[in-house]
Amino acid sequence: MKKITLSLALALTALASGCANLEHSRDVANPAVTGKVMAEQTCSMCHGVDGNSINPTFPKLAGQQKEYLSDELKFFRSHNRSDPAGSEYMWGISRHLTDQQIAQLADYYAAQKRIPQPSTNVPLEELGKNIFLNGIQDGARTVPACQTCHGADAHGHGVFPYIAGQHADYIRKQLDIFKETEERDEKVGEMMKNETHDLSSEEMKAVAAYIATMP
Ligand code: HEC
Ligand code: HEC
Repeated sequence: MKKITLSLALALTALASGCANLEHSRDVANPAVTGKVMAEQTCSMCHGVDGNSINPTFPKLAGQQKEYLSDELKFFRSHNRSDPAGSEYMWGISRHLTDQQIAQLADYYAAQKRIPQPSTNVPLEELGKNIFLNGIQDGARTVPACQTCHGADAHGHGVFPYIAGQHADYIRKQLDIFKETEERDEKVGEMMKNETHDLSSEEMKAVAAYIATMP
């Protein structure tokens, strides 16, 4: 009992004196905490220290394009990206981020190396590879090849995200969100709305399975 009181008193003193250690801070509302410290202490809980998350609910950020990553953080901050997982997990944490912290976070993740997922279903991945490289033209359907915007290596460029090696479940979920909802930014998201308009859920599954294995 005495011990608890003592540590509580110490914690309160630390708080009152404002001497929170900025190198180990989990305070996402303090503009003095750098993006790097925030990435290591806070974002890492879900996205992994090196930006390679394990759980597919959390997208990999390693190697992500700086412009895309900072745009998405600003979309969460302004509630412009409003899909259920995005609003549940990312609205609160991005609320007080400054533009400078966002730029530092983008630098941090752009410098990390992305680790791809292992292959799990070769026939499905082969089907997806064909869609990624050539798109689909059959009858009334036209789906442009993914590589035209995301690059032949799917590493993206500027506002076009790095999607190679991303969790298949996350990719699939986003394709569905672009197709079925207005929950992602309407300006840049418009490109993916056109893209997914004619994609069936089987085809989404295939292309996601292939992209997840890309180095
Ligand atoms: C409690 C878990 C959690 C924490 C902590 C967290 N995130 Fe996220 N983050 C998520 C989830 C879940 C998503 C996916 C949302 C969706 O499906 O749209 C996400 C999505 C993102 C995206 C969009 C990725 C993409 O490919 O479009 C970025 C960028 C991002 N987070 C950055 C950060 C940064 C930077 C921090 C730390 C300041 C952070 N996150 C902290 C859970 C978290
Ligand atoms: C005309 C250009 C264009 C084409 C073609 C295109 N994309 Fe995209 N894609 C974009 C843009 C731009 C974004 C970013 C949208 C945003 O920020 O809301 C994006 C975002 C995505 C995302 C979300 C990434 C994330 O981390 O949340 C996925 C997944 C994706 N594209 C997969 C694909 C697949 C699969 C194909 C082929 C079937 C494809 N894209 C074809 C332009 C394109």
